[in-house]
Amino acid sequence: MNRDFIAGHWYADIYEQFENETRDVAFLLNVLRSCANGSAQRILEAACGGGRISIPLAKAGHTVTGFDMDLHMLLRCYRQMKGMSNIRCYLADALTAQWGSEFDVVVLAGNVLINIETDMDYAEAQRIFIRKAAMALRSGGHLYLDFDLLYDPVRFFSRLRQSSYFSGTDDMGTSGRTISYGSVYDPVTHMCAGTSHLELTANNGESFVISKLWHKHIPAQNQVYGWLREAGLTIERSYKNYSDEPLHEPIDESTHRATIWARKD
Ligand SMILES: C[S@@+](CC[C@H](N)C(=O)[O-])C[C@H]1O[C@@H](n2cnc3c(N)ncnc32)[C@H](O)[C@@H]1O
Repeated sequence: MNRDFIAGHWYADIYEQFENETRDVAFLLNVLRSCANGSAQRILEAACGGGRISIPLAKAGHTVTGFDMDLHMLLRCYRQMKGMSNIRCYLADALTAQWGSEFDVVVLAGNVLINIETDMDYAEAQRIFIRKAAMALRSGGHLYLDFDLLYDPVRFFSRLRQSSYFSGTDDMGTSGRTISYGSVYDPVTHMCAGTSHLELTANNGESFVISKLWHKHIPAQNQVYGWLREAGLTIERSYKNYSDEPLHEPIDESTHRATIWARKD
């Protein structure tokens, strides 16, 4: 079997096993209850992955559309949405595809803003995600944006040390682990780069390594706020670290997570 297929399948399966965080999903459902009067919303989740967020949104009665560029992730989503009539998902690259229109809410969550897969200028890709989200909303609709916003990105991102984030065996019998050697962060450009690899053993006993060089742009608060303004989005509420406390401007030392509810003018 093709190694990229084995690796893609393994990663999606292990991601589902390990990334089973529900706190952020519960927080989103609460924000929808309090900010959208508890009524069922027409929601788009861009980069929905395996449906960790989209499936609970549909189970809560919302009408959900999700898309992602990773087929292995999407297959997980299809499996879970079987028998549900208020959710649909499709394969698409967010940067080139049309996102549709007239949604009540667009969700950019699960840290997608700093996990975009692209070869283009990373900050530009982030700006495009926000612009496309705004274009997909009806007038008066809302963007829900949830991402890591760190007071001191140097401390968090500039560290060189070996670590393994995921390890385990998937449903095809492929076993393995991710190995990262850390990253470096440039405080002037806000670019962060690192190197990592997957060590996998397929069910036929064959072992192989898939290497990955990655880079991303870590946006500052004022940059994200600028992209929102430019896209015609006005911040109505913001939440620090999944609490009721709004984000300070500039953020304070204890901030690590930003959640924003912004209205399309
Ligand atoms: C960190 S995961 C988050 C998935 C999901 N939102 C969640 O919270 O579980 C990031 C997802 O973004 C998707 N993604 C990254 N870049 C993308 C792009 N350009 N177009 C569509 N999906 C993309 C990846 O395939 C991956 O599923």
